Amino acid sequence: MEPLDRKQFQKKYGIIGSSLEIQEVVQIVQHVAPTDITVLITGESGVGKEIVAQAIHNAGNRSKKEMVTVNCGAIPEGIIESELFGHEKGSFTGAVGERKGYFELADGGTIFLDEIGELPPATQVKFLRILENGEFLRVGSSVARKVDVRVIAATNKDLEQEVRNGNFRQDLYYRLRSVNIRIPPLRDRREDIPELFEKFVAEFSERNNIPFNGITPEAMTELQNYYWQGNVRELRNVVESMLVIERGKKIEVDDVRRYLHTEHSGAQRMLPALLQKHNDFDERQLILRALIDMKADILELKNMIASISGEGHPLSDHQPVMLQPGVSVKNIGSSVPETLSIGEMERRMIENSLKKYHGNRRLAANELKISERTLYRKIKEYNLS
Ligand SMILES: Nc1ncnc2c1ncn2[C@@H]1O[C@H](COP(=O)(O)OP(=O)(O)OP(=O)(O)O)[C@@H](O)[C@H]1O
Ligand SMILES: [Mg+2]
Repeated sequence: MEPLDRKQFQKKYGIIGSSLEIQEVVQIVQHVAPTDITVLITGESGVGKEIVAQAIHNAGNRSKKEMVTVNCGAIPEGIIESELFGHEKGSFTGAVGERKGYFELADGGTIFLDEIGELPPATQVKFLRILENGEFLRVGSSVARKVDVRVIAATNKDLEQEVRNGNFRQDLYYRLRSVNIRIPPLRDRREDIPELFEKFVAEFSERNNIPFNGITPEAMTELQNYYWQGNVRELRNVVESMLVIERGKKIEVDDVRRYLHTEHSGAQRMLPALLQKHNDFDERQLILRALIDMKADILELKNMIASISGEGHPLSDHQPVMLQPGVSVKNIGSSVPETLSIGEMERRMIENSLKKYHGNRRLAANELKISERTLYRKIKEYNLS
């Protein structure tokens, strides 16, 4: 049989998205699926770790058996070893009969260990042994057993940090990370959002027999600009609620806003996450937007103070920003190359946005989260057209 190309593979295994990030993930999945190699999948909650694990299993040689999924974070510490490795009769109070553990149940197939970062240290040693040679001991037994199991592990924790904190064994981490599939957060691959939206709409409208009458481009842009802390899962939930509640109505930007928790997606929440990455256009836009929001707050405060103390020099819009002593805009990531005045930042942001939307002011205003009227005023003020 001809091997599937990437697109066919994605269709067959239900992985939506054509961003470079998803393409890269899928390519690795295609490479590792036919092998028995251990894979570690990392990424924030809701990015699609489980769907990727399932694709690796389904596209591999072990797909005739069901993948055994174990959520390591959900099993109480006291029984986790017996759950994973099984136990002999009478090995502890309550162990009335012998019992196979998940590794034995998965023999010949795949085990998916979700939330691997939650494995207690004593269990980590035993897990490492299975990874090394397939051997383990049931609780209460001194006879080594052997299984043939392919392991896929996942976590949304930063395992490297967990190693540094002494919560995760370094040797196990090294063993696991040899093939590490990192799934980027949805906000770093916004071009996947329309495709995911379409897929969820199709799914829900068919399953619940609900009509869908389209979404305006502005409403889609709003979805694409959202922070999506809960990633694809959150998008899925929003689509489902919108569809059910807006039943048959064409979705507009105001509808979308009602379903997004925008009060949390302002400057405070965006900045810390964005500061860790410094390279793309969207992020620069978001940082600038966050700074402008902050600027408005700072100016307001300063003016308040000035008016209270009676000095009364309302501040102009064109002061350089100093966020806190010693931290100027210059220090925020390499994406902001020089210290800019607020006015200059605002001008560039508007210019970029207009360029991005080929001069369409409505879309630019929507992206900038200002009214069209304000945008017109700013365009005039900065002489942009
Ligand atoms: N690329 C994708 N294509 C289609 N559906 C996706 C994609 N990514 C995620 N989903 C869907 O989003 C939801 C969340 O995905 P999944 O359960 O795989 O996330 P996760 O990373 O395992 O999250 P958690 O860390 O919270 O367990 C699921 O309904 C899944 O089907
Ligand atoms: Mg999961």
